[in-house]
Amino acid sequence: MASLKGIQACVFDAYGTLFDVHSAVAQHSARLVDATAVSTLWRTKQLEYTWLRTLMDRYVEFWQVTGDALDFALETHQVSDSSLREDLMQAYLGLSCYPEVPLALKVLRQRGIRCAILSNGSPEMLAAAVENAELGNRFSAVISVDPIQVYKPDPRVYQMAVDELQLEPAQIAFQSSNAWDAVGAAVFGFQVVWVNRFGQRRERLGIHPAAELKSLEDLPGLLDD
Ligand code: LAC
Repeated sequence: MASLKGIQACVFDAYGTLFDVHSAVAQHSARLVDATAVSTLWRTKQLEYTWLRTLMDRYVEFWQVTGDALDFALETHQVSDSSLREDLMQAYLGLSCYPEVPLALKVLRQRGIRCAILSNGSPEMLAAAVENAELGNRFSAVISVDPIQVYKPDPRVYQMAVDELQLEPAQIAFQSSNAWDAVGAAVFGFQVVWVNRFGQRRERLGIHPAAELKSLEDLPGLLDD
């Protein structure tokens, strides 16, 4: 049964929602003692640095944040192989998309729903990821926070999608696997679908997403006609 009403566009978080952030380390896992721990710490630090840099008003682009977080993770796990560091950063430009993503986007477009990305990622990172996953023709817009130099969940980020798509927040379905991003988008006023890929618990931040899915496969079924 449709649970989102009057949706004109679907806006997607990129990393963790469309693209598998752990696929970079997975490509090189044989070169690490504890690949899962490195990948998890890399992602955790990457997100923490976005929040901290926004709070401190010390923006640097997501490519640098990603490199700084990787350096922290590698140092923590006593990895000093600089060629591995370079290979992991290159792999981040070619992350795999989750398997159901191409078909879900195709079905949405066939139904006349515009699709867009709204991400912390630098424009070059997002362009590389979209091209690598062969999703270039699926999006009406790929929006990076870079022009406004603040990171999610600052409301100014979500406003970028409203401005780009020329819609009211309530006409936009926003999809994120990141529970905190889902909350930020719901606070802003989007109809939010939390793509709970990792079986996380709900955040206790006073507002909940409109819907929860395990993957994007069932997203089209949530939208009314
Ligand atoms: C992004 C991060 C939050 O793509 O996953 O914006």
